[in-house]
Amino acid sequence: MAGPLKLGTGAVTRFSWDYSTRDPQLRELYEKGKAAQWNAATDIDWSPELHFGVPLDDLPNTIGARNRRPLDSPVPPGLWNDYRWQYHSWLSSQFLHGEQGALLATARLVETVPSIDEKLYAASQMADEARHVEAFSRYVDLLGVSYPVNPALESLLADVATDHRWDIIYLGMQVIVEGLALAIFRLGHAASFDPIIRQITRLVARDEARHVAFGMLALRGYHDELSGAERAEREEFLKEAALLMSRRFRLEEVWDRVGIPVDVGVEYALTDPDFRDFRRLMFSKVLASINKLGLLTDGLREHLRELALMRPTGVSGRR
Ligand SMILES: [Fe+2]
Ligand SMILES: [Fe+2]
Repeated sequence: MAGPLKLGTGAVTRFSWDYSTRDPQLRELYEKGKAAQWNAATDIDWSPELHFGVPLDDLPNTIGARNRRPLDSPVPPGLWNDYRWQYHSWLSSQFLHGEQGALLATARLVETVPSIDEKLYAASQMADEARHVEAFSRYVDLLGVSYPVNPALESLLADVATDHRWDIIYLGMQVIVEGLALAIFRLGHAASFDPIIRQITRLVARDEARHVAFGMLALRGYHDELSGAERAEREEFLKEAALLMSRRFRLEEVWDRVGIPVDVGVEYALTDPDFRDFRRLMFSKVLASINKLGLLTDGLREHLRELALMRPTGVSGRR
């Protein structure tokens, strides 16, 4: 296991002495968040047996690792079942690492955001993220097979959790990382073969939908006030984040674990039409959010097309 990652930050901690409700919608979301708390230890039935490697046959897997082996897959038929389990373990491990990233980034928000409405909501999100870390780490333990944090994910989490600009934390975590996680949950993880991960996914997805809503509420209109240079910095950040998040799905670690030459596996992940569709679908909601915030610039669109995350016709921009 890799050693702990330690990062210095130049964060500005802000106290607000104004305790009045300035944003009723955020306070409403905070109330919803408090009412929707659950307990990872008691609200999930952890008793179903889970045996890594048992034949999955036609049981549904998470999208991205289809039940039936495509004829052109680089994975030999004899390793297909192992590949599906490895992919499941890899994805569950990455969710776990992403949840810790969300916990730390949101802790930073509590300190740095200006208003008390946002501080309170962010604090309640931290309690959600603690549960998510607890649930996924217990699940990965049950699987008995885990993966270290993917380098591209680690790089984005480190950038986001240490940025001194609070709007970048919202963009990186609430809009992108949590938006993508929510999309994957909805695209198929919720229908996975395993009853325990189905329960975890259902409960976590409910929280993540609120977290994405939090980011969108907090950022309303914020970027309209920024200078051209500041907007250009946001465009650069979003380009880098999209690159890192699409890189995560080249699955290097999975190919390596299954014994497929990594370059062959990566080429397959980049070119296979189903994988490409999966990445585009996963990004489509996130891009809609970025568009809504007025940040889907021509430069960003061009970059997303180069990464094959957007079709040539794509979503249309507000500006
Ligand atoms: Fe989470
Ligand atoms: Fe979250």
